[in-house]
Amino acid sequence: MATLTRVCGIVGYVGHRQALDVVLDGLRRLEYRGYDSAGVAMLDGAGGLAVERAAGALSNLEGKLAGQDGSRFTATSGMGHTRWATHGAPTDRNAHPHRDAAGKVAVVHNGIIENFAALRAELETSGVEMASETDTETAAHLVAAAYASGPTAGELTASVCAVARRLEGAFTLLVTHADEPDKIVAARRSSPLVVGVGDGENFLASDVAAFIEHTRDAVELGQDQVVTIDRGGYRVTDFDGAEVQAKPFTVDWDLSAAEKGGHDYFMLKEIEEQPEALENTLRGHFVNGGIVLDEQRMTEQDLRDIDKVFVVACGTAYHSGLLAKYAIEHWCRIPVEVELASEFRYRDPVLGRDTLVVAISQSGETADTLEAVRHARTQRARVLAICNTNGAQIPRESDAVLYTHAGPEIGVAATKTFLAQITANYLVGLALAQARGTKYSDEVAREFEELAAMPQAVRQTLSTVDQVRTLGRELADSKAVLFLGRHVGYPVALEGALKLKELAYMHAEGFAAGELKHGPIALIEDRLPVVVVMPSAKGRALLHSKMLSNIREIQARGARTVVIAEEGDEAVRPFADELIEIPAVATLLQPLVSTVPLQVLAAEIARARGYDVDKPRNLAKSVTVE
Ligand code: G6P
Repeated sequence: MATLTRVCGIVGYVGHRQALDVVLDGLRRLEYRGYDSAGVAMLDGAGGLAVERAAGALSNLEGKLAGQDGSRFTATSGMGHTRWATHGAPTDRNAHPHRDAAGKVAVVHNGIIENFAALRAELETSGVEMASETDTETAAHLVAAAYASGPTAGELTASVCAVARRLEGAFTLLVTHADEPDKIVAARRSSPLVVGVGDGENFLASDVAAFIEHTRDAVELGQDQVVTIDRGGYRVTDFDGAEVQAKPFTVDWDLSAAEKGGHDYFMLKEIEEQPEALENTLRGHFVNGGIVLDEQRMTEQDLRDIDKVFVVACGTAYHSGLLAKYAIEHWCRIPVEVELASEFRYRDPVLGRDTLVVAISQSGETADTLEAVRHARTQRARVLAICNTNGAQIPRESDAVLYTHAGPEIGVAATKTFLAQITANYLVGLALAQARGTKYSDEVAREFEELAAMPQAVRQTLSTVDQVRTLGRELADSKAVLFLGRHVGYPVALEGALKLKELAYMHAEGFAAGELKHGPIALIEDRLPVVVVMPSAKGRALLHSKMLSNIREIQARGARTVVIAEEGDEAVRPFADELIEIPAVATLLQPLVSTVPLQVLAAEIARARGYDVDKPRNLAKSVTVE
């Protein structure tokens, strides 16, 4: 079977340092993007390319390199790759970089070349022998051919442009040629790529995390563009070779934000960073008494005319989207539908000029969400993106953007960006309410004040971490865990279950507690842990009393009840085998605190079971294919 390259980390460097060190450091920071295999390529000093590749984690590659003659890898330009594939074995042979037959061209790739079967057949007909089963290798042979003869002979940038024009699908390609040393050419379509601009050195990477240690000056590339870097600078063109003006930006977070800061895992650090992430999400979004988005290419009148909202997202972002519905319907009186992005366009949703599609994506590059956005735009709907990654594809293709500014999230399982997304959803709800006049400005200000108090409430919730960790160790041998919630507690229950599945590989399900009696109660057996997210006794008395009945029902059937409840909720205490107290906050805001213990619980159960919580098996942080 062919091996397609899905989500990957890519690093390229041309400068004055040892490229191997720079590239490996960069790959380490991008390992969250994939960890099936890794590889590097650089000039070998004898007119050829030195390449090393290894299946498995980056450490395997480092081990292989350590056992080698160091002089092969002393170049000051080179590139590397970490890969996450879904088809074909992650073997040494399929690992990137891939080369042409002469070993002069090396290519690393993120994405899928959709017409690779035709290209491969064409190459094989012309006598090329393939060394791997990958789509990527076709690009190496095509560049070699374009460089060898014809109108682009001897011109690496022009050769890459010519090849990029022939490729279909999504790709970021980095290409180097032994005959044009100290130069890397990259092409991008629908896959991430940023340039890092240094002093006498330049970088290419999937994500700024790879070069932030060296420079904060970056340049974002547009769709269908090619960039060439050397020591002196960078040059951007379209696929036809016409020069284009690229947009520089300064990265607003530093290296320490991308390091573990004394924690065993990034995820644990990211859980602790949540108060700060919320502060950063709120900052700058409430100015002169009103909600302000980061980018707005639609008018106030467009916002006023919205009569229907769709929220589209995947995974954890989808769970945050479920919460957007509660807030937007309540504040704006507009119907809201929340849909998994992967399902959205295939059922022909009813969209028009007055429909707002809110696309939520941490990475801003999730293919399912991106395609949902594109579909919405073809139907002339407006698109508002909520995103954590500056300049990513989804915000670029949207009419308005609110960035969550939560900083880099390295752990594959989303934590701080989930809380930031919930906050951003509420800001969008308030912006709509403000534009449509369903809330007076003093009401918007009051809601914002409540949001502004949430970082402190989350900080307080973090004091439950030790209790939850102890509980996690006790529950580590359970076969399954169920999660129950009502109203805004329901998406929290879904998220709690997803975290446990992702990290601890344990069967976990989230239910709306009212549904319990319609089926799931049959699952309850002796000592089965059931985590219950309790509504506020004061804010939601009716829901609270219904939830109390649900807890009684499951306890009577032998469940071990773990209850997340507001401090001072004495009514629930007798029914809680374990009670985790969270601060009392407004109803819509409770998910910002009730999620925290569930994140810690999943991480601790996973750790107790011996798993790497930053890199759960089979998962990737961002999935750039449908
Ligand atoms: C992947 C990740 C999830 C994430 C989802 C959506 O599946 O493993 O943690 O929630 O993608 O990612 P996005 O970047 O669009 O928020």
